[in-house]
Amino acid sequence: MHPTRRTILAGAALALASAVIPQAMAAKPLVIGFSQVGAESEWRTANTASIKDSAKKEGVTLKFADAQQRQENQVKAIRSFIAQRVDLIAFSPVVESGWDTVLREAKAAKIPVILTDRSVNVSDPSLYATLIGSDFVEEGRKAGRWLLDYAKKNGDKPLNIVELQGTVGSAPAIDRKAGFEEIIKANPKLKVVRTQTGDFTRTKGKEVMEAFLKSMGKSINVLYAHNDDMAIGAIQAIEEAGLKPGKDIIIVSIDGVKGAFQAMIAGKLNVTVECSPLLGPQLMEAARKVVEGKPVDKRIVVNESVFPADVAAKELPNRKY
Ligand code: AHR
Repeated sequence: MHPTRRTILAGAALALASAVIPQAMAAKPLVIGFSQVGAESEWRTANTASIKDSAKKEGVTLKFADAQQRQENQVKAIRSFIAQRVDLIAFSPVVESGWDTVLREAKAAKIPVILTDRSVNVSDPSLYATLIGSDFVEEGRKAGRWLLDYAKKNGDKPLNIVELQGTVGSAPAIDRKAGFEEIIKANPKLKVVRTQTGDFTRTKGKEVMEAFLKSMGKSINVLYAHNDDMAIGAIQAIEEAGLKPGKDIIIVSIDGVKGAFQAMIAGKLNVTVECSPLLGPQLMEAARKVVEGKPVDKRIVVNESVFPADVAAKELPNRKY
């Protein structure tokens, strides 16, 4: 071949390759490995749907693993995401402690990590890029403030409170308890007389409430449940014991799922503090930034409201979960 012709052909091939390669690179979908806590509540189902829908909408390949509320399953899933060389790992940690080793493994493999919904206790904060989720202490405070106000408006009598805690060692259980206690201590007539975990599920919420009712009967004035599902389970136990939930026992809970709004409309629940599970869009946005090396805030907090029973009927049609 004539040398000039060869040069022209080589130049054309190079131009074609340089036009095609960046396009192919740009088209490569972001791959996220996501380890979910489980499917323990209406909230969690909505959270999973939000993450899956947003990934689909954003063209993200999502490798999803359900940990069935067990930390060891989350650790296994994270290790498998590392082995698969995903672009980013995201997870909602079932409990706060015990993550240092596996997160160090992700860091050594140069795979960034984003926490959604719940926090971790780690010695090195650089083990994760950001935490996207609610302020659980503030949610507990909001529940406490509603009750303080209720007590004031209802003759300031002594109130015996039973508490259904979330999963032992989880951030929302620890923080919602702390926030609530911080506020109610302002009124010494408000006393938490029993507290036990219901693991964020309806079944356990019902079981534990049955036990509370057996031991304390009609002396229970208030139930504080760390989520709506446990409150809904407890409502069944209260009715089966021949009492009126929402009247004989005042019920304060957290999440703001549709089931809670229906219970409020039926007069069986008094207030729910909102905790939004719709974290998918924020996760996808932060993941892209982190993978592209752009800065993200270390903490991305979600804004939330409080819904007392008297606004439930008006608000229910606007609820997205
Ligand atoms: O971490 C958020 C909590 O987990 C929600 O309040 C609860 O419903 C869920 O299971």
